[in-house]
Amino acid sequence: MKVLVIGSGGREHAIAWKLIQSPKVTKLFAAPGNAGINQIAEEVKIKADDVEGLLKFASDNAIDFTVCGPEVPLELGIVDEFYKNGLKIFGPQKSAAKLEHSKIFAKEFMKQHNIPTAGFETFSSGKKEKALAYIKGSKYPLVIKADGLAAGKGVIICSNETEAIAAIEEIFGDKVFGSAGENIVVEDYLTGAEASVFAICDGTDYVVLPPAQDHKKIGEGETGKNTGGMGSYAPANKIVTEAVLDRTKKRIIEPVLAKMKSEGSEFRGVLYCGLMIDNKGDPYVIEFNTRFGDPETQVVLPMIESDLLELLIASTEGNIKEHELKVSADDYCCVVLASGGYPDKYETGKVITGLEKVTKDCLLFHAGTSLKDGKIVSSGGRVMNVVGKSDKGLRDAIDSAYANAELVNFENKVYRKDIGSKGL
Ligand code: AMP
Ligand code: GLY
Repeated sequence: MKVLVIGSGGREHAIAWKLIQSPKVTKLFAAPGNAGINQIAEEVKIKADDVEGLLKFASDNAIDFTVCGPEVPLELGIVDEFYKNGLKIFGPQKSAAKLEHSKIFAKEFMKQHNIPTAGFETFSSGKKEKALAYIKGSKYPLVIKADGLAAGKGVIICSNETEAIAAIEEIFGDKVFGSAGENIVVEDYLTGAEASVFAICDGTDYVVLPPAQDHKKIGEGETGKNTGGMGSYAPANKIVTEAVLDRTKKRIIEPVLAKMKSEGSEFRGVLYCGLMIDNKGDPYVIEFNTRFGDPETQVVLPMIESDLLELLIASTEGNIKEHELKVSADDYCCVVLASGGYPDKYETGKVITGLEKVTKDCLLFHAGTSLKDGKIVSSGGRVMNVVGKSDKGLRDAIDSAYANAELVNFENKVYRKDIGSKGL
């Protein structure tokens, strides 16, 4: 089969790496890919949000199956467009992807169907005064979120009223999130342990992948600014125990699938449940995403021993029930190497060295890299994902990831030193 992967980050490198292990894949393309992905897939110079261009490429080249990594093309309706043209693609249609691209839709949906999530109110920019009045009487901390997609940056945690007023002024006044901040969700602050659970869904049934934990802040001990994710590990079984996973299935995944279907928006694709698990082991939804998470995918996919392409095809064809998932017993830890300055304005164009030195069992997934004059250089905020693996436990996987992270170098490389420690 000719397969196309859309996207250019570490997540897409992991997806591409896993897909080429399938005997069914005869040729892999990546649009646009990066310096790592393009070593295993043919580069297609079309950006991920150019739906028309991607559609034309897939039609002209008789692509048998497409996997979309990022969220923006899903909001733009890439799956609907491919379906209309008789092309097979993994992911939700636009109306189902709304679970990610409209936080208000997701919150109202959860409230209506008793899916556990933080209490909330919503406000539009025209009702700024109402929003300001609401936060006056609120309990702090309080969380303010832009309704639309904001590249993981649309969430502001306010410790007091002054910060909440500033947040509302920034979103409604300065329009820091553009049209994504036209409406906001103001929600209660949840405490507990965070985890990510991915369910591959076919509209009715689903398969759950091993749980993972992301590390969203730039600094050790979850301090400093939010990032796209500075590292991950899997399986996160200490936090997502069998009991927690069971509750997540019964209280969250199953009602989402049943209600989306009965409301006419069958959910096919990855339902990413970003959870807060309280001290009683009850999971609450922080957010839904409708695609694979980054950098969780870089530790979750290596755990899957069965054929990923078959699983993704089953999701689009509606027969996931027949799919048996085989999962490895090893532990994985992913350390993200980022550019100096990230998550603010960051440096690019730094030559990356030492890639050939990493140990055989270590996986390297490129994130923001490109080729320049025959050299691999940094071209994004998150540059490289170093994944350590071990059959001796998480401690050993962490040690392997860090030993290898030392071997890969570029000027002003930044990384967190405590990835995985919450899982020990
Ligand atoms: P999100 O983009 O919605 O995943 O939010 C980014 C991060 O903000 C999450 O990973 C949490 O650490 C934090 N966060 C979001 N919503 C809440 C909440 N209601 N209570 C506590 N923390 C939250
Ligand atoms: N790891 C967070 C995300 O993919 O949104």
